[in-house]
Amino acid sequence: MALLNLKVNSTWQELHSAEGTPALDVIRGELALTSTKEGCREGDCGACAVLVGEHVGNSVRYRAVPSCLLPVGALRGKHLLTLEGLVEETEDGLTPVMRAFLDENASQCGFCTPGFIIALTSWLAESQVPDLAGALRAIDGNLCRCTGYGAIRRAAAKLVARFKDLPLEPTARLKALVEAQVLPPSVLKFLAESIGQESAPRRQNSETISLLGDDVTPQTVVGGGTDYYVRNPESEEGFSPLLTQILPELRQIRYVDDRGDGWLEIGAAVTVRDFFASPGVRREVPGIERFETMFASTLIRNLATIGGNIVNASPVADITSMLLALGAQLVIVPEKEAENDSAARRLCPLEQFFLGYKTLDLAPGEILKAIRIPALDDPSSRRFSFEKASKRKNLDIAAVNTAISFHIEGGRCKGVRVSLGGVAPIPLLSTEAMRVLEGAFCDVLDRRELAELARKAALAAASSVSPISDVRGSAEYRRRATHQLILAHFVRLFEESGIAEELFP
Ligand SMILES: Cc1cc2nc3c(=O)[nH]c(=O)nc-3n(C[C@H](O)[C@H](O)[C@H](O)COP(=O)(O)OP(=O)(O)OC[C@H]3O[C@@H](n4cnc5c(N)ncnc54)[C@H](O)[C@@H]3O)c2cc1C
Ligand code: FES
Ligand code: FES
Repeated sequence: MALLNLKVNSTWQELHSAEGTPALDVIRGELALTSTKEGCREGDCGACAVLVGEHVGNSVRYRAVPSCLLPVGALRGKHLLTLEGLVEETEDGLTPVMRAFLDENASQCGFCTPGFIIALTSWLAESQVPDLAGALRAIDGNLCRCTGYGAIRRAAAKLVARFKDLPLEPTARLKALVEAQVLPPSVLKFLAESIGQESAPRRQNSETISLLGDDVTPQTVVGGGTDYYVRNPESEEGFSPLLTQILPELRQIRYVDDRGDGWLEIGAAVTVRDFFASPGVRREVPGIERFETMFASTLIRNLATIGGNIVNASPVADITSMLLALGAQLVIVPEKEAENDSAARRLCPLEQFFLGYKTLDLAPGEILKAIRIPALDDPSSRRFSFEKASKRKNLDIAAVNTAISFHIEGGRCKGVRVSLGGVAPIPLLSTEAMRVLEGAFCDVLDRRELAELARKAALAAASSVSPISDVRGSAEYRRRATHQLILAHFVRLFEESGIAEELFP
């Protein structure tokens, strides 16, 4: 078995563990770094969070991820920071984030505390002006069973006050954080080591793969692992999947031209976090960033990929629902050609990819390489909305979700697409609602007419579905939720018309 090279806190190390082993097991086992805790092992509690640094642009970027769902092979060539590494070379054995927790009594049994420290350290390392809302968002995937969140909130507020003037330029920010002992000196050493390197590590077994014949057993593919490891918590010995995260070709977002049509192509291994942060995605889908926090938690968004969301084939996958409404196409290639840009590929409209419950138009040995959304001549004319009915605001899977996309031309809705999730074994388009809306007048000055149009579309969508009852909701609940969520799209998209008062007097 080839060795896995990564920087662990201040030291480069070669690990013997198989690439597909959950990083948490390696961190607590082979590396004996036990500050990282095992709680739920399902991405729900944040106790296992670690910081992962990697070369991005001309700097390095650190992000907190749940190590229970992270394949250790994805750390090849990267910098893994645990609490043991954060305190290296601090004056009193505490970083300012830890000190804030101590001062505000934000820890009792302490089991959750390492995860909170890592998540807040990651938030400080990001190039944004620190504010309390951002700090609380950073810990939306961390649970504490005994302290109560008031004290943790006070600790976060203290950090906001102390660090509000951090530089925004990534390298200057890292330097300032090392100076303040929030991050250890190993961060600057990793930065120096990364400069000038083609940072992205190649997959370990690419050579072997390209020599394989057609009759070879395809490898298991793992993206972020946030679905895979929940379903397979104990990996087999020697488990070495194809890790899409370490293929740079699958992490790009770029415009492409294909037979005269323009597309924004999003690599399948782009994380949910990077998807919402992408200037290209924000340009093509104005306002899409408003829906980011409806997906899981910051920790999960930092790890989960767009491709994994689609191939997992959950009928209520949120990104899939958005992409269906955006008219996405999939770029599918043979697994062994994943890194070859000129390889033969086939294109599949997203709505044709789902053949039945968890059955996909994806042959053994094929991999999803990228997802394309059609680039509009004038993307600013696009109206887009996403809605989701779930019991909790964070960390919850939808009972029903839906997205809508269209643009207005001459006062009429054009290019309308409405997706529905949770109402059938597969995510689908509501052709009935689309038929009602396509070409319809949508006069923002006439809220009555608009409300009438919204009601017709909602009725068409709800009456055409036959959902089943399960733990997340009865069939009747799902039908009603579909109706109400379609109305909610209109309230969001035509807020200025006063349509809310018309629909919900
Ligand atoms: C706590 C928690 C909260 C969650 N909340 C949400 C939520 O709010 N909304 C939501 O939609 N989902 C949610 N999820 C589910 C999950 O995070 C998403 O579906 C995510 O996008 C999966 O991406 P991944 O890269 O982690 O997938 P993985 O687990 O890596 O892969 C999922 C499946 O896709 C296959 N696969 C992955 N990439 C490719 C590829 N490029 N080509 C071929 N096959 C591939 C894998 O073999 C696997 O079968 C949540 C999960 C957890 C643990
Ligand atoms: S152990 Fe709970 S998120 Fe990993
Ligand atoms: S301090 Fe005990 S779980 Fe948070």
